[in-house]
Amino acid sequence: MARGPDNTPRWAALMVLAALGTAVTETTNPGIVARITQKGLDYARQQGVATLQKELGKMEIPSFSGSFKVKFLGKGEYSFYSLVIREVQLPSSQIRLLPSEGLALSVTDASVKISGKWKARKNFIKTSGNFDLSVEGVSISAGLNLSCDPASGHSTVTCSGCSNHIDSIHVHVSGSHLGWLIQLFHKKIESSLQKALNDKICQVVTKSVSSKLKPFFQTMPVTAKIDNVAGIDYSLLAPPTATTETLDGQLKGEFFSLAHRSPPPFAPPALAIPMDHDHMVYLGISDYFFNTAGLVYQQAGVLNLTLKDDMIPKKSKFRLTTKYFGTLIPQLAKMFPNMSMQFLIRVSSPPHLTVSPAGLACTPVLEAQAFAVLPNSSLAPLFLLGMSSNASVEVGAVSDRLVGELSLDKLLLELKHSDIGPFSVELLQAIMNYIVPTTVLPKVNERLQKGYPLPLPTHVQLFNLVLQSYQNFLLFGADVLYN
Ligand SMILES: *[C@@H]1O[C@H](CO)[C@@H](O)[C@H](O)[C@H]1NC(C)=O
Ligand SMILES: *[C@@H]1O[C@H](CO)[C@@H](O)[C@H](O)[C@H]1NC(C)=O
Ligand SMILES: *[C@@H]1O[C@H](CO)[C@@H](O)[C@H](O)[C@H]1NC(C)=O
Ligand SMILES: *[C@@H]1O[C@H](CO)[C@@H](O)[C@H](O)[C@H]1NC(C)=O
Ligand SMILES: *[C@@H]1O[C@H](CO)[C@@H](O)[C@H](O)[C@H]1NC(C)=O
Repeated sequence: MARGPDNTPRWAALMVLAALGTAVTETTNPGIVARITQKGLDYARQQGVATLQKELGKMEIPSFSGSFKVKFLGKGEYSFYSLVIREVQLPSSQIRLLPSEGLALSVTDASVKISGKWKARKNFIKTSGNFDLSVEGVSISAGLNLSCDPASGHSTVTCSGCSNHIDSIHVHVSGSHLGWLIQLFHKKIESSLQKALNDKICQVVTKSVSSKLKPFFQTMPVTAKIDNVAGIDYSLLAPPTATTETLDGQLKGEFFSLAHRSPPPFAPPALAIPMDHDHMVYLGISDYFFNTAGLVYQQAGVLNLTLKDDMIPKKSKFRLTTKYFGTLIPQLAKMFPNMSMQFLIRVSSPPHLTVSPAGLACTPVLEAQAFAVLPNSSLAPLFLLGMSSNASVEVGAVSDRLVGELSLDKLLLELKHSDIGPFSVELLQAIMNYIVPTTVLPKVNERLQKGYPLPLPTHVQLFNLVLQSYQNFLLFGADVLYN
C-alpha cells in the first residue's frame, strides 16, 4: 500500500468516499451500489482540504531579484530570498457534484503568510533585512475526474483542471535604512510573487491528486479473500457517476470460488435505490451478492457438519444412539443394537435468499445421512432424510463487516432413502427439530457473526448505521469516521 507520510489517511477518506459512490450505464447490474451523498462529500472535503493545507505549507517559493532605478540615485539591485511559508489558512471550501463529469473542489478566502529576507545594493551601499508577506483572498478551483480502469476494476482519479486567483499581496519590509527604498517597489515585488504563487498553487493541487489521492485509489483492493473457498469481487463495473445529488459507484458485488471461478447461472436484478440524504454513505446490497455466496459455498461442498452424540446436550432425552432411535424405528435397534449414530448434515442445493420490504428470507434445503457406528468404528448407512425449512436472516454491520444471524422455522422432513426398510418419518420430526436448531444453527451463526468485509478500506469506520430492506436489496446508510 502506498503510504505517504502522516497525511495519506486523509486523502484516503476522500478517495474512499469518492470511490464509493451509480447510475446504471452498463447493461450488467451491480451486485452492490455504493453511494456518497453531499454530506459524505463534505466530510471528505474537510479531510482533503486539511491535507491540501499541509501540502501548500510545504510549497517552495523561489527567490527573485531585480533592479531599480530612482531619480538622482541611479540604478540598484535587490533580491528576495529564503522565502518560507509561515501559515496557510483555508477557511472556506466547497465540493460540488458536476453531473456526469465529476467533482469540483473550490477554496475561497484562503491566505498565506510568507516571511523571508531581502537585500539591496546601490553602488557601495549594501543593506538587508527581513520582510513579511501576506497573500490574501486566494481562491482555488479544481476538477476531479473519476474513472475506472476496466482491466482491474480499480477506480482512479485525476485532476481535470485547476485554476487559482490571488486578490492581493501585502509586503511589510523591516530592516535597515534602505527599507524605505524597497517600499517603492511594492508593485513589482507583489506582481513577481503573485506570478510565482499562482503557478505553484495549482502545481501543488495537481500533484497532491496524482501523488496521494490517485495511488491510494489504485491500491484499494477490488477483491477480498474471505477464506480458503471464496473471495468477494468489489471491482467497479463503470466509472463512478456524479448525479445532481450523489456520487454513485456500481460494484460487481459478487462472491467467487478461489479454486475455479465461473459466472453464476443467475444475473443481478436492477436496483432502485431511493434518494436518501441523511447519511454520508449508502450501500445497496443486492440479493445477488448473498446468492453468489450461497452458490460458491454450496458448490465447494463445505456446507456440511457431522453430528455426533457427544454434541447433544447431556441433559437431553434425545440421543444419537440406535437405542434411542430404536424406540421410534424398532427394526433399527434389532439390526444395529446398542450403537452410536452419526448424522452427516449438508446443504443439498444452493441456499437462495430473497430480500423484500418484509425482510430477508431463505428456504434452506438440507440432507441428513444417518449412520450407525459399528464396533470397528466404520459407518453403516441407515437412511437419508431431506429437510426443508423457512428461515429468516437478520443482517447487520459491525464496524466494517457485514454480519448475519439465521433463525429457522420448523423443519419438514422427507425420507429420501432407507437401508433399514420403510418407517414413518413423522416420528423423527421432534428429534430433528431439536437437534438441528441446538447443534447446527449455532455453528452457522458463529460463522455468520464473524462476518464478511464490506467494501471499505481500513481507517474507515461506520457509525449511525441504519438498515432497511427493499425489493431485491438491502440498503445500509451510515456515517463515516476517518481515523
Ligand atoms: C475524465 O477522464 C476520462 C479518461 O481519462 C476522459 O475520457 C474524460 O473526458 C475525462 N472527463 C473530464 C470531465 O475531464
Ligand atoms: C465437509 O466440509 C469440509 C470443509 O468444511 C470438507 O473438507 C469436506 O469434504 C466436506 N465433507 C463432505 C462429505 O461433503
Ligand atoms: C452398550 O454399549 C456400552 C458401551 O458401548 C456398554 O457399556 C453397554 O454394556 C452396552 N449395553 C448393552 C445392553 O449391550
Ligand atoms: C467393520 O465391520 C463390518 C461388519 O462387522 C465389516 O463389514 C467391515 O468390513 C469392517 N470394516 C473394517 C474397516 O474393518
Ligand atoms: C414456508 O412457508 C410457506 C408460506 O408460509 C409454506 O407454504 C411452506 O410450506 C413453508 N415451507 C417450509 C419448508 O416450512
